[in-house]
Amino acid sequence: MFTVTVTEAVDETDSVKVLRLARTDGRPLDPYPAGAHVDVTGPTGITRPYSLCGSPGDTGAYTIAVKREADSRGGSQALHDKAAPGTRLTVGAPRNLFALAPDAAEHHLVAAGIGITPLLAMAYELHAGGAGFRLHYVARSRAEAAFAGLLDASPFTDRVVRHFGLGRQTAGKVLAEALTGLPAGAHVYTCGPHDFMAHVREAAARSLPGEHIHAELFGAAADPREQGADRPFEVELDTGEVYIVPPGRSITEVLEENGQALDTSCREGICGTCVLRVLEGEPDHRDHCLTAKEKAAGDQIAACVSRAKSARLVVEPW
Ligand code: FES
Repeated sequence: MFTVTVTEAVDETDSVKVLRLARTDGRPLDPYPAGAHVDVTGPTGITRPYSLCGSPGDTGAYTIAVKREADSRGGSQALHDKAAPGTRLTVGAPRNLFALAPDAAEHHLVAAGIGITPLLAMAYELHAGGAGFRLHYVARSRAEAAFAGLLDASPFTDRVVRHFGLGRQTAGKVLAEALTGLPAGAHVYTCGPHDFMAHVREAAARSLPGEHIHAELFGAAADPREQGADRPFEVELDTGEVYIVPPGRSITEVLEENGQALDTSCREGICGTCVLRVLEGEPDHRDHCLTAKEKAAGDQIAACVSRAKSARLVVEPW
């Protein structure tokens, strides 16, 4: 983690603020691939992941877009409302869980709302590399479409298909048509609300294999606070301490409250930082970082979101 200073804060729409973040020590930032994100610790101390949405070649400042929404922990709301030129924030190194496929014959980027952010960086990179791509952008209205003006002025504006102001059903129909009959080597990338991405996946799966369809999973992981039907279970460390994990609390939180600090980052089941080895018991996987094979093996658990199907889990930090 390192400290950055907000150099620009621009209201892109009524609810989206764009921040430019430069290293406080004046050094250049690490380069990053399109689709990457950084963890940003905001004014309230809450860390949230944000996609980098500037041109990936720009190492003078990172650009992020923050939507003001009342999420369960208030991180984005505070960052949106309080960040201004001069504000200092803590940022982690860029990480990429949403990479472009280097061997794709063509790329179809499908964004809804604030989901435009990683796809904008992808569009910059694909354009710079001369790759074939199309960017579909769905928004309730042009006024609510972040970066609409930037896209109009971009050198790849003719590759952008704007679906602004369409009703939900009409937009779904238009997208389904756009994603029908794609060539076998095409790849589809989508970012937006969970049900929107599910719809895009379903439409793309009619002509492409699953490994050609990529979705950005921020916000898609289950929030342990919202799992009303959960039961308590015991978590036992390999050193013998046993703690009860009640409904609405995560393993990570319970261990931290008891002085057992774990490495964590996203706290949303995305990054894999908090994964523990499972020695006994059956995990109830709710993450998006372990593969299907790893989940089936049952010997690892993402402690920030996953729970237990068995009454007790015995775990060991790696
Ligand atoms: S902290 Fe990222 S998966 Fe748990």
